[in-house]
Amino acid sequence: MKNHKIIVANWKMNPSIFQGIELLKSINQSINEMKVSSKIVICPPSLIIRDALIIFSNSIVSIGSQDCHHAEIGPYTGDLSYKMFEDIGCEYAIIGHSERRANHFEDNKLIFEKLNSINRSKIIPILCVGESFVERKSGLASEAVIRQIDESGINKLEFDQKIIAYEPIWAIGSGKIPTRDEIMSIHSKIREKLDTEGNNKDIKVLYGGSVNTENVSDIFSINGVDGALVGGASLKKADFIKIIESAEI
Ligand code: 13P
Repeated sequence: MKNHKIIVANWKMNPSIFQGIELLKSINQSINEMKVSSKIVICPPSLIIRDALIIFSNSIVSIGSQDCHHAEIGPYTGDLSYKMFEDIGCEYAIIGHSERRANHFEDNKLIFEKLNSINRSKIIPILCVGESFVERKSGLASEAVIRQIDESGINKLEFDQKIIAYEPIWAIGSGKIPTRDEIMSIHSKIREKLDTEGNNKDIKVLYGGSVNTENVSDIFSINGVDGALVGGASLKKADFIKIIESAEI
């Protein structure tokens, strides 16, 4: 049986508003002309999520947020709540991306609060975990990843579907990726951890970090890789479409 992939585009704070809307339209047009069996999720900047939802209203593409606040409403200047994203029609939320951990000082305790709130909604979480370069070099990559899973509590919370994205911090935007064996080993440890700790019906483990048109087929062929979380390459229409095509082969 064909193993359908999940391909998630994380646009981060890119591109400009008007280019972003044009890119959404152009991706929609291409995907409408294709036969796609993968699950495609696009997470654009929050300011164009409503445009994305309208553009993809008759499409197989789902829309997600890149983060959310754990409170439903309240005095949190500049924040957007998980419930707001749910109310406008987002089906997914990226949580705990390493850029949020680094730039907004998000720790596993806060990430747990976010997952716990999302658990009260219909949103499917995409939890990002990954080791630093120093942790990888010291042989502590899997310990770091498993600690993030444990402390964020994703293993204990009950979701219909959980998506974990293994994104080594040193691989993000660097053009460097782990070896096949390194990816396979972390993916199987993540799955083992979730499999043994209950409440885990449907677990998908994605790889993220410098996924591009050159390496994607190889990454998709690794045992235990259920898809990809794509940054830079998802901002180039032709590359993103090629990545989607690679999952169909
Ligand atoms: P790149 O694909 O640009 O390395 O980004 C990966 C990422 O951070 C996706 O969340």
